[in-house]
Amino acid sequence: MAEQLMHLSGLTYRYPGDREPVINGLDFAVDQGASIGLIAPNGSGKTTLFHLMMGLLKPQAGVITAFGREVSGEKGFKEVRRRVGLLFQDADDQLFSPTVLEDVAFGPMNLGMGRHEARAKARDVLSDLGLSGYEERITFRLSGGEKRMVALATVLAMDPDLLLLDEPTTGLDRDTFSRLVAVLQASKVARVVISHDFDFLEQVTDSLHSLVRGKIVMDGGLHLHRHAHVHRHGDNPHHHH
Ligand SMILES: Nc1ncnc2c1ncn2[C@@H]1O[C@H](COP(=O)(O)OP(=O)(O)OP(=O)(O)O)[C@@H](O)[C@H]1O
Ligand SMILES: [Mg+2]
Repeated sequence: MAEQLMHLSGLTYRYPGDREPVINGLDFAVDQGASIGLIAPNGSGKTTLFHLMMGLLKPQAGVITAFGREVSGEKGFKEVRRRVGLLFQDADDQLFSPTVLEDVAFGPMNLGMGRHEARAKARDVLSDLGLSGYEERITFRLSGGEKRMVALATVLAMDPDLLLLDEPTTGLDRDTFSRLVAVLQASKVARVVISHDFDFLEQVTDSLHSLVRGKIVMDGGLHLHRHAHVHRHGDNPHHHH
């Protein structure tokens, strides 16, 4: 059996003031080398799940195991955040330094890398993502798609053991989209990718899961039948990308 990177068991989370839990007795395992797509309707709890996995929200029930150890307190999740890279759904939650290079170098420096080395690392990652020349740009003035890619750079610069990508293709033009696909296909890092773009998930993940009533369900059927999602939408109109 492959080594488990993360394991969630019986996880339950209810937002304060809500009556029903969004995540409800959820079980989920991410093995070494896993590449999992997560496709589920708006509001089904995908982002909430990622935030629970990073310890940004505290579950009311359930157990989270990461890298072989049960984690609960802030100290445990600090370690999780060093090894798991979350790309936030909203890039503005990710970026906070004045310039692109500072933003991307921040993570490696925070992991103990010297300033010079961290900046070199940041340049490398920016170059891999086709963002050479962006180093001195002012982060908050970037376009939506540019921010998305810089946010990804901040995550990749930390050399995570597991990537959690929350709708990474939002706002990307076609060329940038293709570059993202190429970068992910070339990377061996384990990943869970949230997206509403079925074709994207087919290109960058090798199994599909969904979230139904607060639980993860394996969606093998989606993988076999490209347009199975049409039927899930019932009569509601929607687009195929
Ligand atoms: N801070 C919050 N307080 C209260 N309810 C929240 C909060 N954040 C999210 N929710 C609710 O929890 C549910 C799940 O939200 P979540 O963002 O996890 O969904 P999602 O699957 O990521 O959706 P999307 O595809 O639109 O990103 C939604 O009904 C949302 O309104
Ligand atoms: Mg979301």
